[in-house]
Amino acid sequence: MAPIGNADKALAWLDANEAGSIERLMDWLRMPSVGTDPEHRADTRRAAEWAGERLREAGLEAELCETGDVGPDGHGTGHPIVMAEAPGSPDYRGPHVLFYGHYDVQPSDPDELWRSPAFEPVIEDAGKPSERIVARGACDDKGQVHMFLEALRAWREAGGEVAGGVRVTVMLEGEEESGSVHLERFVREQRERLGRCDVVVISDTGMLGRDRPAITYGVRGLTYTEITLHGPDHDLHSGMWGGKIPNPNNELVRILGQLWDDKRRVAIPGFYDDVREATAEERAAWKQLGIDKAASLRGIGFGPEADVGEAGYSMLEREWGRPTAEVNGIFGGYTGAGAKTVIPTHATAKVSFRLVADQDPAKIRDAFFAWLDERTPPGCRWTKTDHGGGHGVTTPVDSDALRAASRAIEAAAGRKPELIKSGGSIPVAGLLKAELGLDTIFMGFGLDDDRVHSPNEKFELACFRMGARSHVRLLEELRKLG
Ligand code: BES
Ligand code: MN
Ligand code: MN
Repeated sequence: MAPIGNADKALAWLDANEAGSIERLMDWLRMPSVGTDPEHRADTRRAAEWAGERLREAGLEAELCETGDVGPDGHGTGHPIVMAEAPGSPDYRGPHVLFYGHYDVQPSDPDELWRSPAFEPVIEDAGKPSERIVARGACDDKGQVHMFLEALRAWREAGGEVAGGVRVTVMLEGEEESGSVHLERFVREQRERLGRCDVVVISDTGMLGRDRPAITYGVRGLTYTEITLHGPDHDLHSGMWGGKIPNPNNELVRILGQLWDDKRRVAIPGFYDDVREATAEERAAWKQLGIDKAASLRGIGFGPEADVGEAGYSMLEREWGRPTAEVNGIFGGYTGAGAKTVIPTHATAKVSFRLVADQDPAKIRDAFFAWLDERTPPGCRWTKTDHGGGHGVTTPVDSDALRAASRAIEAAAGRKPELIKSGGSIPVAGLLKAELGLDTIFMGFGLDDDRVHSPNEKFELACFRMGARSHVRLLEELRKLG
């Protein structure tokens, strides 16, 4: 077996070459890979190619796999998936790791709220512990994928084997933020290749604080819908027609208002049927984490009185262990400046549900749509769209791989990672569990105030450093398992 001391050399390389690592990340962040926006198709592909190049430089075999229908230019209608392989040392006996990440980012709007342009990354607070890189994708997820890319590079530069001798498959997606439309088909097509993997590692979640590293052992599921209520066949004068016929805006908000009962539970019949309650031990362990609820509310401009949600559950229990319904957007009729009296021809809402084990996204979507049908106002009709989603997952915490990840983070951060869950969703994890039986270790290094999906997204250099070092150590720990 190769000398384990190589990890120290790789870590020394990371320390000595951090400026270059950060510069590479900034190059990647300059590519506006907004997967959902057709205007950024070429930029999104460029970001995929960039990642492929970095993987090749680290000694891996990398290729771009087209998704969707492939046209005459050889490009698919979907965004490409970057696949790469490191064969592992001949004497490697540890698990074959599938590292997943996404190179697409959320749109940058509202652009006027950014201190500096979203795709012109800057370093702020230079020299302070809060030193950070500010740009769209800095944390979600380019910055976190880059920790792994640089860990691979470090092994290579330090003269070690490719990926430290660990058998690794890398899969980087370009549609995570837009519903992973082509991923399911891709995973099925690549079943043989992906089926050789034993465990998934994803760096796309957060920690409990700057000095409180964590492993996330579960994320929630999601089902995302868009519904439009159609009324009169054209916009009407509200003086002539108000109060005489159904106003789609009025009707839509009246119906959506019935979505929660007075205990703030979702009122759709059967919604809670498949919900697995958190165990008493789990709830006790969460409480032990001592999360400062008032501080987190303060961070978003609220006082402690804003701790509002489903009756009978704490704020943390509601985020990690309970399903919810959210209206993400609602529009119809006149939304311009000043006043215009009008009854709109239709009204739309984007409604999503966060789900927990063992709720099925398709079943929840169907139940919601049926619930709407029962409430269709006289003379009106619905159009309904499913924007996708995925199952929630919970990872067993007693596996060799998870213990190796825990030791790796402890070695890199000087503190044992705590076990947490997340209210967010990472649909690929549920897909890989369902299709291939793979469990996922979420090894993320974000902070609660990183403003992911918001203006001024940032990733702190200390987090980047901890993540890159943890990934170097992870490869070492996995190598030792053999
Ligand atoms: N990285 C996030 C998920 C996340 C956010 C995990 C915060 C933990 C903490 C991911 O990129 C994301 O934004 N997922 C979407 C779902 C997707 C289908 C659009 C989400 O959770 O809304
Ligand atoms: Mn993400
Ligand atoms: Mn995201």
